[in-house]
Amino acid sequence: MTTIPASHTISWARARVGRLCGTDMETGGYAARASEIGGHLAKELAAGRLPFLSMPYRAAMEEAIPAALNSISHCRHLLLLGIGGSALGARALQKAFFPAQDRPGHNGPWLWIADNVDACTLEAWLTALPADQTAVAVISKSGGTIETLSQYFLVREWLQKMLGAAWKKNVVMITDEAKGFLREEAKREGMVSLPVPDYLGGRYSALSAVGMFPAAFMGIDWKALMRGASAVASPLAADPLSLSKHSAWDLAIWNRQLMENAYSQLIFFTYIPLWSSLGAWFGQLWAESLGKNGKGSMPLPAVGVTDQHSLQQMFLDGPNDKGCLFLHCPSLPRGRTFGPETPEQWAYLRGRSFGDLLDAEGLGTRMALSQSKVPTVELCMASDDEEAAGRLMMLLEITTVLTGYLLDIDPLDQPAVELGKRLANARLGAPGYPEEHKALTAFLSGKGRESSF
Ligand code: PA5
Repeated sequence: MTTIPASHTISWARARVGRLCGTDMETGGYAARASEIGGHLAKELAAGRLPFLSMPYRAAMEEAIPAALNSISHCRHLLLLGIGGSALGARALQKAFFPAQDRPGHNGPWLWIADNVDACTLEAWLTALPADQTAVAVISKSGGTIETLSQYFLVREWLQKMLGAAWKKNVVMITDEAKGFLREEAKREGMVSLPVPDYLGGRYSALSAVGMFPAAFMGIDWKALMRGASAVASPLAADPLSLSKHSAWDLAIWNRQLMENAYSQLIFFTYIPLWSSLGAWFGQLWAESLGKNGKGSMPLPAVGVTDQHSLQQMFLDGPNDKGCLFLHCPSLPRGRTFGPETPEQWAYLRGRSFGDLLDAEGLGTRMALSQSKVPTVELCMASDDEEAAGRLMMLLEITTVLTGYLLDIDPLDQPAVELGKRLANARLGAPGYPEEHKALTAFLSGKGRESSF
């Protein structure tokens, strides 16, 4: 019933419905920008400002990760301290390729991801984890993120109390090569560390030590992830002027056209259940890269079939402001087959597999989206292994950057999120925030109507 494709494919058959009906890649003049944007890419690559694409760090990283792993070979638990781009890639890979941890009978290793200011969970971990068998990966590109550092201060105290002078043998720092508090701390304490290269910002760093070290700890085939990513990146990195031949360019133009036609939300609908957390990773990549100067589109991660019973009504019959990236993989394991005892009312299931149900529901959703005039691009994966995931992640990273260039914004910075951080620092009494102090006082003294419930 299901055709399994020989390679990963992108289907454009339903991409141009609704307000995109009648448009093509040339509409809006975006395709004509290929040589200008290719030239910009070439300049940025030559200056070393796009390491996510050129991956100059790959060989050194592939040597350094096994050595760092070796230094914590006595540990069965890895507690990852990081937030945003320093955690979301690891979680996506954990859920996709290390599902054993969430299943009955698992007997280690364990990865725990601390990516929030969550006193209850941190307390539970520090109460129950065996310190002598717990490695701590402190991951922060800047080495100065308050959420990550504050967790580190508490965890460091715990390790020191439990292990005495040996505490630092259980820590691996993954941070900027040269600067920041964590780099200094690693040097001061002689800790094992892995570098995050210059210009490799958090949300583009999953395919570096940031994501690959935790992946390696879980026994995931991280080198295959890198191979897949490289297969998608290297043709463009080697020849940026060939941009118009790259699938990411087509995806970027389509997204730009969606935005121009008042499609302000982009559904990332995955029908690969184990890849459900990839949506959160993509959401951060897209939102933090493109939400600038009033531009961009809101990423909406959704999981098939689960969200057919939660979000889908809005996708199909709510405001007509959504496009959709639809991800599926026809070669997923089929699972069990429905037997002859299946009740008469569902007799049509007999002899079919559980996987057939996923395929049929995915098809139903795609058709329904199309009939509801939701422009949809279908990403069909030939396989759901690590190499395939590496390919997809790189495709999405390049698409994001190119969409940013088509929007004439910088997809690599995130200026707006700084304000909240400054205000929080001011609130905690950090020095050097006089303006923020004044603004906070005014904000807190503002009286409005209050009601109770
Ligand atoms: O994508 C980004 O740059 C951010 O989301 C960062 O990943 C996040 O703020 C954490 O930063 P850092 O890795 O410096 O601790």
